[in-house]
Amino acid sequence: MLAIDARDVAKTFRAGWIGRRETVALDGVSLGVERGAIFGLLGPNGAGKTTLLSIFATLLLPDRGRITVLGLDVVKDATEVRRRLNMASGNASFLWNLRPPEILSFYGRLYGVSGRALRRRVDELLTVCELDPHRRVPYNELSTGLKQRLALAKSLLNDPELLFLDEPTLGLDPDVSTRLRRYVASLRRERGMTIVLTTHYMREAEELCDEIAFIKAGRIFARGSAGDLKRAIQLGDVIALRLDPPDVRLDDAPGVLRAVAANGWIEYTVDAAEKRVPELLQRLHADGVVVRGIEVREPDLEDVFVEMAR
Ligand SMILES: Nc1ncnc2c1ncn2[C@@H]1O[C@H](COP(=O)(O)OP(=O)(O)OP(=O)(O)O)[C@@H](O)[C@H]1O
Ligand SMILES: [Mg+2]
Repeated sequence: MLAIDARDVAKTFRAGWIGRRETVALDGVSLGVERGAIFGLLGPNGAGKTTLLSIFATLLLPDRGRITVLGLDVVKDATEVRRRLNMASGNASFLWNLRPPEILSFYGRLYGVSGRALRRRVDELLTVCELDPHRRVPYNELSTGLKQRLALAKSLLNDPELLFLDEPTLGLDPDVSTRLRRYVASLRRERGMTIVLTTHYMREAEELCDEIAFIKAGRIFARGSAGDLKRAIQLGDVIALRLDPPDVRLDDAPGVLRAVAANGWIEYTVDAAEKRVPELLQRLHADGVVVRGIEVREPDLEDVFVEMAR
């Protein structure tokens, strides 16, 4: 069962005098997100990630394409869809002089919650988002991390089935990011929430997302699990060796794709480390070369991202 089923979504922004400046933000995106999944959208600045989330969240109209969200048409049934989803952005902003409980109450009323139910909901969210000690601090005096948590709390007011998080940990310190990620994972685990997030942090995507789509210049050009993406791009594993004598070269050995020497180490990029490490060691041993150091490294998602963003 799909939470989001998008076919051939396109969006061009027109600005300036009679729309002379045109930016193609989305250029035919098709995408399916399973219910209960955590799905990551990755891509360079300006790729179209926020635009796509905004269209899914009924905040922008697509120029073209068919999008079903929670089984409803995102354009025709926008009002019903809105009740069941929410979105939080890493650079959201709220009215500067209101305090967290006031901000949450304001948005809660927009969702039709009021009276004691609203107070209970606001208290609960202030607690789970660790904002209790900051109840009396005006919005503009909150730190970046606290503002982010408030944006997340706001997005949970209507207990959404589908949650969009646009760079949820932007500018947060590692400790706060880790806790926020754990909380996001628990929303899926405990409430079965479907979550679609964008991020520039590869570890975040790798840790949280069941599936990742790479988007560039308004098109999706790869998708799969973090492992699938690494395999698809065939970056190879790196075997770094420090040898004695140091000038021994293995560039012609089977499976070696590249060799780079630096600081007394030679880094060989190979097709598959588990196969090539024993072969290389055997050959070095046979040649009487002493191995002073060896390190084996898999490519990480960061490498994949850099390669794909090219
Ligand atoms: N309201 C707008 N008016 C005009 N152009 C826009 C508007 N919103 C986005 N764009 C343009 O559309 C393209 C996609 O922007 P979008 O914000 O979706 O990218 P993004 O992938 O979210 O980037 P980032 O990683 O920097 O957040 C960019 O070229 C951007 O300049
Ligand atoms: Mg963005």
